[in-house]
Amino acid sequence: MFHFGVDYYPEHWPEERWPEDARLMEEAGVNVVRLAEFAWSFLEPHPSRYVFDWLDRAIEILHRRGIQVILGTPTASAPPWVMAMLPDAYKVNEHGRRLTYGNRCEFCPTHAGYRERGRMITRAMANHYADHPAVIGWQIDNELNGRCYCPNCQSGFQNWLRTRYGTLEKLNDVWGTAFWSHVYTEWSQIPVPLETGGVPNPALDLDFRRFMSDTFTCFQQEQVDILRQICSKHFITHNFMGFGFDQIDYFDLAKPLDFVSWDNYPRTGWHLAKEADHAYLALGHDATRGFKGQPFWVMEEQSGSGGWQTVGMTPRPGEMRLWTYQAIAHGADAIVYFRWRTARFGTEQFWHGVLYHHGQPGRRYDELKTIGSELKRVGEKILGAENRNQVAMILSYDTRWAFQGQPNHNDFKYPALFTSYYKALHSRNIGVDIVPPDADLSRYRLVIAPALYILPDKVADNLRSFVQNGGMLIVTARSGVKDEANAIVNQYLPGLLADVCGVEVDEYDIQPAEATVPLELSLPGRETQTAQSRLWFDVVRTTTAQAMATFQGEYFSGSPAITLNQFGQGRSIYIATLGDDSLHDTLIGWALESTNIKAVLSTPPGVELTERWQGDQRLLFLMNHTGEAKEISLDRSFEDLISGTSVKGSIKIPSSGVFVLKAQ
Ligand code: GLA
Repeated sequence: MFHFGVDYYPEHWPEERWPEDARLMEEAGVNVVRLAEFAWSFLEPHPSRYVFDWLDRAIEILHRRGIQVILGTPTASAPPWVMAMLPDAYKVNEHGRRLTYGNRCEFCPTHAGYRERGRMITRAMANHYADHPAVIGWQIDNELNGRCYCPNCQSGFQNWLRTRYGTLEKLNDVWGTAFWSHVYTEWSQIPVPLETGGVPNPALDLDFRRFMSDTFTCFQQEQVDILRQICSKHFITHNFMGFGFDQIDYFDLAKPLDFVSWDNYPRTGWHLAKEADHAYLALGHDATRGFKGQPFWVMEEQSGSGGWQTVGMTPRPGEMRLWTYQAIAHGADAIVYFRWRTARFGTEQFWHGVLYHHGQPGRRYDELKTIGSELKRVGEKILGAENRNQVAMILSYDTRWAFQGQPNHNDFKYPALFTSYYKALHSRNIGVDIVPPDADLSRYRLVIAPALYILPDKVADNLRSFVQNGGMLIVTARSGVKDEANAIVNQYLPGLLADVCGVEVDEYDIQPAEATVPLELSLPGRETQTAQSRLWFDVVRTTTAQAMATFQGEYFSGSPAITLNQFGQGRSIYIATLGDDSLHDTLIGWALESTNIKAVLSTPPGVELTERWQGDQRLLFLMNHTGEAKEISLDRSFEDLISGTSVKGSIKIPSSGVFVLKAQ
C-alpha cells in the first residue's frame, strides 16, 4: 500500500473534534498519520507515571477509519519536569553559555540522565503499543541536530579520542600539536572548540564535529535497540533534513533504520524566493535516497505557508501535488504532510497545515483529496520502483565539516559547488545518485567528486579503481588536499589523486568573488569557446594529462585550467578552478556526450523528467515547474497512469502539471 498521510497533534485540540478530523482524513484518502512526537508531557506528565489512555482513544478513532499510525518517540522536546530534574542536561553553546527552557532540542546528547529518561519513555511506549493493530512503525525523536560544548561532552570527546587514537603520542602526532606547543600530556587537557579568541586546530575541530555526529547516531541507536527488541513487527525511521543539513553524517545515521524519511519544505518563511527552486528540491530527494541507497518517505511535506515569526509564501494551487509527485519521482514511497491543522498557539502558529487554524476544509484540503484519490489508483504501481542512474556524485561529510572550519576562500561554499554540478545534470534530465566516498562505484559511468578535500587512502583507491576500470571521474580544485586528520598532504596536489588526474599543482591563487579569469576551452569534438573561472585557480603542470582549457589572464595565463587524463581503461578530468555555474554546465554537457549518457527525453527548461524502474518497466515522471503550459514531444506512445489515458506525439503539460508515463 502507498502510504499517504498527515502529521497530526490531537493533543492540541479538544477531544470532541477528533472524530471529525478522522472523518475528513479518511475522505481525503489519508491512510496513515504520525502522532505523539512532541507529546512527552501528555504521555508522562510526572516522572514514571505513564498515561496512554488519551492516545489510545485518538488511535482508536483513526483505526476505525482504517488509518494506520506511526508513533514518534517524544525525546526532541522534554517536559519542564525532566529538565528541572536534570539542570545540567541543557546544551552549552559554542560561547560557553548554557541554554534554558523554552524551545525544543535543548538537551545535551551525551547527558546520561536525559538519555536514561529517553530510554524509559521509549520503552514504556514500545511496551504499550507493540501489539496494537493500528501501529506500524516508529520515528525516532525529530530532526536530530545541534552541538553541545558542556563539560560532559568534553569528557565524552576525550573518551572518543582515546578510542580513536589509543595513545596521546599518536593523537599529538596526528593532530600536529607541535604547532604552538599544544602538546597534550593528559587526555583531560583536551578541550572542545569553545571560544578561544582564535581559530582551533583544524584536526581538533574536525574530530569534534565527527564526535558530535557519532553522539547523535548513538543517541538514536539506544532507542532503535529498545524498539527492535520490543516491537519486532514495526519499522523504524527518523526524519532527516535532506542535503541542506550538515551536522550529522547522514550516511551513518541511516544505517540502523529500515528506511530514511525527510522533511521537505520548498516554500518556508526562510526561503522567500519567488519560485521554489525545484532543482535544489530534487537534490534534497536524491540525497535522501542516497543516504541508504533505497526508496524513502517524506515524513513532513509542506502543505501551507511556513514561518514562525513571519509568514512565508503560501504554496500556489497545484504545488502540493507537484511536490508530491516530484518526491515520488525521486524515490519517495510515502508522503506525509505537515501538518493536519495549523496550531492556534505556540511557536509554530504561523506554520500552516492542510487546514487553517479554524479547522474548516479549504483549498489545500481539496488538493490533498485530489492527490489522495490519484495515489489510491497509481501509488501501488509505483511503490518500490528503483531509480537506476549512471551518474553519481560523491558527498563527503568529512569534507563538509573541514570546510566549515576552514572555508579556504571567504566566498567558497562546498554545498553550493556541489549544487552547481548537480544542477548541470538535473537540467538535462540526467538522474543522479548521491553516494558516500567509499560507495561501490562499479555501476556508474560518470562520477563527480566536487572538491573532495579530505581524502583518506581508501577513498583515493576507490576512485582510482573506478577510473582504471573504465569510468570517467571529474575532480576539481581543492581535492586531495588533506588527509583523514585534516593535515595537508606531503606531496603535490591533488595529493593521492595526482596520478589519476595526471597533473601536479605547482601554485594556487585566489581572487575576490566578483573577479573572473577567462578560459579558452578546446573540448574534444567541439569548437573552441570561452568561459569564465572564479574564486580559486590552481597553476598546474600536466604529467600525463592533456589540457582541454587554459587560463587567459593573470600571471598564470596560458597554464592548463581543465585537463583530461587517460588512466587505465578510464579518463579523469581535473578542473583547476572552483568555477562558475555556466562553466560547470558546459563541462557536464561535454562529459555526458563523451560517455554517451543520454536523457530519455529532452524537455523545455523548468519541465523536469525523472525515471524509475518497476522491474523491466520504465516509468517516466514529467513535471512542469514553470508558470505556463509547455509542449513535450514523445517518441512513442505511453499510458499516463494518473489519468489512465493513452498519450503520444506532442503533449501539452499545464503549469504545475504532472504525467506519470508508462511505455505501451
Ligand atoms: C520541522 C520539524 C517540525 C516543524 C516544522 C516546521 O521540519 O520537524 O516539527 O517544526 O519543521 O517548523
